[in-house]
Amino acid sequence: MGLLSGKRALIVGVASKLSIAHGIAEAFHQQGAELALTYQNEKLKPRVAQFAEGWGSELIFPCDVASDDEIENLFTELNKHWDNIDIIVHSVGFAPGDQLDGNYVDVTTREGFRIAHDISSYSFVALAKAGKSMLHENSSLLTLSYLGAEK
Ligand SMILES: NC(=O)c1ccc[n+]([C@@H]2O[C@H](COP(=O)([O-])OP(=O)(O)OC[C@H]3O[C@@H](n4cnc5c(N)ncnc54)[C@H](O)[C@@H]3O)[C@@H](O)[C@H]2O)c1
Repeated sequence: MGLLSGKRALIVGVASKLSIAHGIAEAFHQQGAELALTYQNEKLKPRVAQFAEGWGSELIFPCDVASDDEIENLFTELNKHWDNIDIIVHSVGFAPGDQLDGNYVDVTTREGFRIAHDISSYSFVALAKAGKSMLHENSSLLTLSYLGAEK
């Protein structure tokens, strides 16, 4: 019996085998968790579906975190299968390419900065907000950070 037996985990942020979320999902699966996954866009869907199958799950849902409608829809659809969620993993990061191409001060624009924070940070709150009715008092929400938070 694994550490997460009987736990239901929603994992947001699997794009490839190299995604940190992939490693988290793999470890959660090994520890007995039941998984639901999201994919950012149609291009990623088949890959995420294949990963999910390997982890014994058919629960995959589209979710571009830039869209409140897609986030709402994610929980509406998930709620048809699960009545609650024990864990949400948010492993999402993005900045427009031009914001990363050169000296930080020179290339950073107000709009580029806004987009990076909207997708990478605000989306964690947005998931918590939309998923709140499926959470219980012992549910856990996990996000990943790196230099942005340290600096
Ligand atoms: N790679 C590192 O060294 C490192 C270190 C510490 C923390 N992190 C953090 O871990 C997280 C995951 O990074 P990763 O290294 O696994 O990279 P990754 O590219 O595999 O994961 C990023 C994920 O964000 C998703 N994403 C981007 N825009 C999205 C959108 N609009 N809607 C929905 N999903 C969207 C992508 O589909 C992808 O699944 C990021 O927050 C990153 O900052 C990474």
